[in-house]
Amino acid sequence: MKFLGSEHYVATPDLMLAVNAAITLQRPLLIKGEPGTGKTMLAEEVARALNLPLLQWHVKSTTKAQQGLYEYDAVSRLRDSQLAGAGDERVKDIRNYIVKGQLWQAFSAEQPVALLIDEIDKADIEFPNDLLRELDRMEFYVYETREWVRAKHRPLVFITSNNEKELPDAFLRRCFFHFIKFPEPDTMQAIVDVHFPGLKKELLAAALKTFYEVRKLPGLKKKPSTSELIDWLKLLLAEDIPLETLQSQDEKIAIPPLVGALLKNEQDLTLFEKLVMMQSRNR
Ligand SMILES: Nc1ncnc2c1ncn2[C@@H]1O[C@H](COP(=O)(O)OP(=O)(O)OP(=O)(O)O)[C@@H](O)[C@H]1O
Ligand SMILES: [Mg+2]
Repeated sequence: MKFLGSEHYVATPDLMLAVNAAITLQRPLLIKGEPGTGKTMLAEEVARALNLPLLQWHVKSTTKAQQGLYEYDAVSRLRDSQLAGAGDERVKDIRNYIVKGQLWQAFSAEQPVALLIDEIDKADIEFPNDLLRELDRMEFYVYETREWVRAKHRPLVFITSNNEKELPDAFLRRCFFHFIKFPEPDTMQAIVDVHFPGLKKELLAAALKTFYEVRKLPGLKKKPSTSELIDWLKLLLAEDIPLETLQSQDEKIAIPPLVGALLKNEQDLTLFEKLVMMQSRNR
């Protein structure tokens, strides 16, 4: 099993190396990076390229580690016992009321699978700590049925984080770490090519120049990311924006058309407008 990138996803050599290191070590791959730099998509693409079914666990602030293992549905059992009577065969067997979580499904799968634990930093600090043994030994105990669940095949685990919270050291020790750096212009060009093959070279060059200029603005609260660039290009094409609107004549910055695809709050827009105003005053 080796990941060599895919036709829908541009992976830099260091990213491929990280994926393959995690496969070799059989440890979870912890991926960090700015929002929109392709963390979630990486798991989808690796799974697709290696022909592994992908189980996805999207973490929320209220998610508990236990939910990824299993949940005991006591409410349904109570309801069934009231409707059918406590003597009912289904009600007697507690197994019928155990709902398997993503981890259990991954552990019990007949073939190797990939498992994505997306945005682990959204949950509270207990969450990663509660998963240490499960991710390390790939096993857990079900108290209700007094049985061990052990992975038939170690799943290929991807964990993404936006760095909203620090992860505990004991958790980090068990992972292979990779930070997706913001793509350099040539990588970005390759990414855009994947999404818009046949895009005119001049338009792409002008759009990328504007995009990186916007990102370079000092004091920006939220820099536009890869996914925002893709959205913006989609709009430029749909609206048939002429190339001249993107190319500044005298190397001055101007507010790009459809700027709402790139800048997502009023402070950043104001900052931009101020800069443009100062420029015209200095003229
Ligand atoms: N390397 C890449 N190759 C191709 N497309 C990419 C790449 N990186 C990002 N994209 C584009 O950016 C979009 C966003 O990617 P994704 O949802 O994986 O980001 P993310 O890092 O998970 O963001 P968030 O932290 O907000 O969840 C993708 O749908 C894809 O269109
Ligand atoms: Mg994501």
